[in-house]
Amino acid sequence: MRRLRSLIAVTGWLLAALTLNALAQSAAPTANAADAASAAAAAATANAKPMAANAVQIARGEYLARAGDCIACHTVPSQQMFGGGRPMETPFGTLYTPNISSDKTYGIGAWSADEFYRMLHEGKSRDGTLLYPAMPFASYTRVTRADSDSIYAYLMSTQAVHQPNRAHTLRFPYNQRSLLLGWRALFFRAGEFKPDPKQSVEWNRGAYLVQGLGHCTMCHTEINALGGNSASKEFQGGLIPLQNWYAPSLTSNKEAGLGDWSIDDIVDLLHAGVSNRGAVYGPMAEVVYDSFQYLTEDDVRAVAVYLKSLPGHSNEVDQSPRSQVVTEESNRLAPLGQKIYEAQCAVCHATQGQGKLPHFPPLANNQSIQMNSAVNPIRMVLNGGYAPGTIKNPMPYGMPPFAQSLSDEEVAAVVTYIRTAWGNHGAPVSVKEVNALRSAPLF
Ligand code: HEC
Ligand code: HEC
Ligand code: HEC
Repeated sequence: MRRLRSLIAVTGWLLAALTLNALAQSAAPTANAADAASAAAAAATANAKPMAANAVQIARGEYLARAGDCIACHTVPSQQMFGGGRPMETPFGTLYTPNISSDKTYGIGAWSADEFYRMLHEGKSRDGTLLYPAMPFASYTRVTRADSDSIYAYLMSTQAVHQPNRAHTLRFPYNQRSLLLGWRALFFRAGEFKPDPKQSVEWNRGAYLVQGLGHCTMCHTEINALGGNSASKEFQGGLIPLQNWYAPSLTSNKEAGLGDWSIDDIVDLLHAGVSNRGAVYGPMAEVVYDSFQYLTEDDVRAVAVYLKSLPGHSNEVDQSPRSQVVTEESNRLAPLGQKIYEAQCAVCHATQGQGKLPHFPPLANNQSIQMNSAVNPIRMVLNGGYAPGTIKNPMPYGMPPFAQSLSDEEVAAVVTYIRTAWGNHGAPVSVKEVNALRSAPLF
């Protein structure tokens, strides 16, 4: 299995930092008081002894840590588990994930279960320091106390990694954690998941996993101008800032989202990494590789059931009429694109884009390549990729990169073709867009 990319979903806190400076100043006094109060409350309970962990609880915690994908961010690939130090690159500098192993000096070995819960629930470190939302506590706050205690027991059982944390190298003013007060005031509400008694047990389990440990909104919801996930556009898809991958809508919109997918298709995609509707790639391949493949079939199905219940919205697909320039460009590129497709792609993806299941994904009626943003198909053609090796699909097939053999014009042509042929409703792409993505980091 090749792991091409570091999956690091950088939330919009950086953008927030840009715009929220002023807001933070005004929000500071009240938020400070609240923070001080809860820090004092936490200090009062900090001396409580960690609960005795038994093997069942540790195993449960390991499973939940998988569901939360803690390993992806807190481990440098091929180095010691939970030792931290994985860089999260941003235009404002670099964050290095902390050591969360059981080491008492450098990890969280000296933390109590209460302190760990407060971190997950309120986004605060042991000493009360506000955490950057690059740590997805805005989702993890949904996690129950019992589950938090299990994850804690599991982390305490892992090998201590005696490795100091690396300081973030964020530039001023982004290194000022006080800016986070403004972000929190706008975008963060602490609160455990509350089951909806009108829904089935299965639906509630799926909702709990998706909204909480799965932190799916971190990528699948657009980041708004203030750097938060817009609640009104939840799960409607979004471009992941800096990574240049587009996470498609998960709603039931038929064209943009999962409206047309069966529960089994969703389960296959999340559990095996390949499905009749497409394969996972880019950052989603890493989510499946590190996290989803280890979940039980029942849990993956619960997630699919919950996703299928998310209402779609008519504005998810760009319905505006194409400008004449766009239409002309499309007419010019499509014939060249078709030629390239037939010569280079049809061998795997078949002449009508129907793919060769399950190993070569279909391109016809494949939402993930028709979105308003064309970054996904452009990057796939430039860089190629492998579906993740999973328990259900241990020998994934790969796609070769075409960056060397095709010019920008040729890539634009073939991507325009696959986005518009066979009833696909994507817009054509320009030579410029392709050129810009040639230098996108290969995560
Ligand atoms: C998308 C990446 C990402 C994921 C997933 C993630 N973390 Fe984090 N985590 C971070 C970053 C970045 C920080 C540092 C934030 C800061 O410095 O403000 C952090 C901070 C922490 C801290 C605070 C450590 C300290 O010394 O203050 C703990 C504990 C922690 N994470 C545990 C977890 C657990 C448990 C999970 C899984 C349930 C998890 N993290 C998943 C990125 C992530
Ligand atoms: C690190 C960012 C990230 C996270 C976290 C993430 N996804 Fe994704 N997801 C993506 C990207 C990017 C794609 C597009 C590539 C692909 O289709 O594989 C995607 C694709 C998908 C698809 C296929 C959609 C389609 O139309 O083809 C599904 C279903 C999905 N994700 C579900 C989830 C669920 C459920 C979660 C939470 C448990 C989740 N994702 C968490 C980034 C992410
Ligand atoms: C040798 C077989 C092969 C060839 C040739 C090939 N592909 Fe692929 N393609 C794949 C495989 C396998 C995947 C799944 C990769 C992954 O999941 O990372 C894939 C994935 C894709 C995707 C993402 C869709 C999805 O749901 O996974 C796009 C877009 C794509 N190919 C376009 C093309 C185009 C355009 C060409 C020709 C320029 C091409 N491919 C040539 C095998 C191939």
